[in-house]
Formats: sequence, C-alpha cells, structure tokens
Amino acid sequence: MDLRGRGALVTGGSGSLGGAISVALAEAGCDIAVGYVGNRDGADDTVRAVEKLGRKACRVQVDQTDPAAIEPAVQRAARELGRLDVLVNNAGWNIGIPFTDLDKLTTEIWERIFHTNVRGPFQLARAAAVRMRAQGAGRIVNIASVAGVKPTGSSIAYAASKAALIHLTRCLAVALAPAITVNCVAPGLVEGTRMAQRIPPEVVDRVLREAVLQRAADAGDIANQVVTFCRADSITGQVVVIDAGVHFH
Ligand SMILES: NC(=O)c1ccc[n+]([C@@H]2O[C@H](COP(=O)([O-])OP(=O)(O)OC[C@H]3O[C@@H](n4cnc5c(N)ncnc54)[C@H](OP(=O)(O)O)[C@@H]3O)[C@@H](O)[C@H]2O)c1
Repeated sequence: MDLRGRGALVTGGSGSLGGAISVALAEAGCDIAVGYVGNRDGADDTVRAVEKLGRKACRVQVDQTDPAAIEPAVQRAARELGRLDVLVNNAGWNIGIPFTDLDKLTTEIWERIFHTNVRGPFQLARAAAVRMRAQGAGRIVNIASVAGVKPTGSSIAYAASKAALIHLTRCLAVALAPAITVNCVAPGLVEGTRMAQRIPPEVVDRVLREAVLQRAADAGDIANQVVTFCRADSITGQVVVIDAGVHFH
C-alpha cells in the first residue's frame, strides 16, 4: 500500500512508542489521528511533531476500556482525516506485580489490563474495518510484547493479555482478509519509556544482561516495522519480535 495521503489512527499516540510510530507513519506520508486517554500534553506534542512534517494531525480522546467510547473515537478519526486506512493498536496498560505474588493480581487489575490490551483493540479493529472495507483496503498493526511470547514481563495478567493480542492478530487476519492485513510487533524492553519504568529493576537488569546485542529494543526499529507492515501487500497474521535478541533461544 502506498501510504502517501492515507489516514492512520494510532492509539496511545501520546505515549513513548505511539509518538515514534505516529512520526514514522507521517514520514511515510500518512495523516495521523493521535489517540490518548488522559495525557493531552503528550498527544499535543505528537500532533505538533506530525504537523511539522507537513501532514495533517488531530487528537482523539478515548478510554478504550469503555466499549461505548470506541465507535465515536473511530468515527472522529475518520471524519477529521477524511479517511481511515491504518489502525495501530498501540495503547496498552501495565503495572508491576511479581509473577509469584498471585494475590496482588486483583480482579480489577486483571480486567483493566485485559479490557485495555485485548478487548479494546478488538473493538477498535472491528469499528475501523467497516471504514477500511468500504474503501477497499486497510492495515491493522497490533503492538504486543515479548511478554506475550515468553512468560516474562510486568505481571501475569499483562503477559497473558499480550499473548491474547498476538492470537487476536492471527484470528483477525483470517476474519478481515482479503481487504485488510493484520500484523503484530512484539517489542522487548524499550528504555526510557513510561512502561519500562513500571517493570521491576531486577527484570530490567536481567533483560539487558541477556540480550545478545547487549542493549534494549529501539523505538525507531519498532516504528519502522509498523511502517513496513503497512506498506506490505502480502504479509498478514505475522508477529515480529524486536527485543535485541533476548527471547529467540
Ligand atoms: N515500553 C516498553 O518497554 C514496551 C515493551 C513491550 C511492549 N510495549 C507495548 O508498547 C505499547 C506502547 O507502550 P509505551 O511504552 O509507549 O507506553 P506508554 O508511554 O505508557 O503509553 C501507553 C499509551 O496507552 C494509552 N492508554 C493507556 N490506557 C488507555 C486506555 N484505557 N484507553 C486509551 N489509551 C490508553 C496512554 O494514554 P495516555 O498517555 O493519555 O495515558 C498512552 O498513550 C503498549 O501496548 C505496550 O504494552 C512497550
């Protein structure tokens, strides 16, 4: 897909990775709807960065744990950009709870994580697909985590939610073909991000020690992979892990 002049909704565009993904898609020629829930300043920073590249940008406030908020958010993005070709399900939520501390994982925390990281992306994809199908084509990229591939990460609920998002990617790739491709990037630790700050320090130390490239994952590599998936016409249902080589052996 030629990305020039396309409309892209990037959820969590106010956050660390969402900002990088928004800018990379804008560099490829997309106009961007920047999703956020509470961090309006972060969303505005991303809007300005996109506009600086000469592309159109708008803010879209959405709490994706609320099913009633999904359709209005997608509608707003499509209206402001004039079209919707790309959805990047990047928004996510985590909290640091050691795997062994089972009792700390309350029902409320479990539900917030699953509603944000799995149900929201499904409902956003369903709403966006209506517009994409009407236009004849579309691209959906989900941002999961290595925690969805290996039993690691900030909590059991987070890891299980990202495993679910990875399989949701494959299921949606079947459901939305042939008009829409659905792929997934599974990042490892990206230093300096808000999410990374919620990962216990001993886990961060271990990841940096075990990475064969002796470093953390690069936000630019993740953003560029999203662009590659969006450009591709014959890739769907795939997951690319970007983690500096911690989890391939
Ligand atoms: N950073 C890492 O090391 C790492 C590693 C593996 C995977 N990931 C994944 O990469 C993605 C982006 O992470 P990040 O590091 O950029 O995290 P971040 O800076 O904390 O950003 C998270 C984003 O999600 C949004 N969000 C949270 N809850 C939401 C809700 N209920 N409704 C709508 N939006 C919501 C936040 O909006 P506000 O800013 O408005 O609060 C923010 O834009 C996540 O899916 C995360 O799981 C990150």
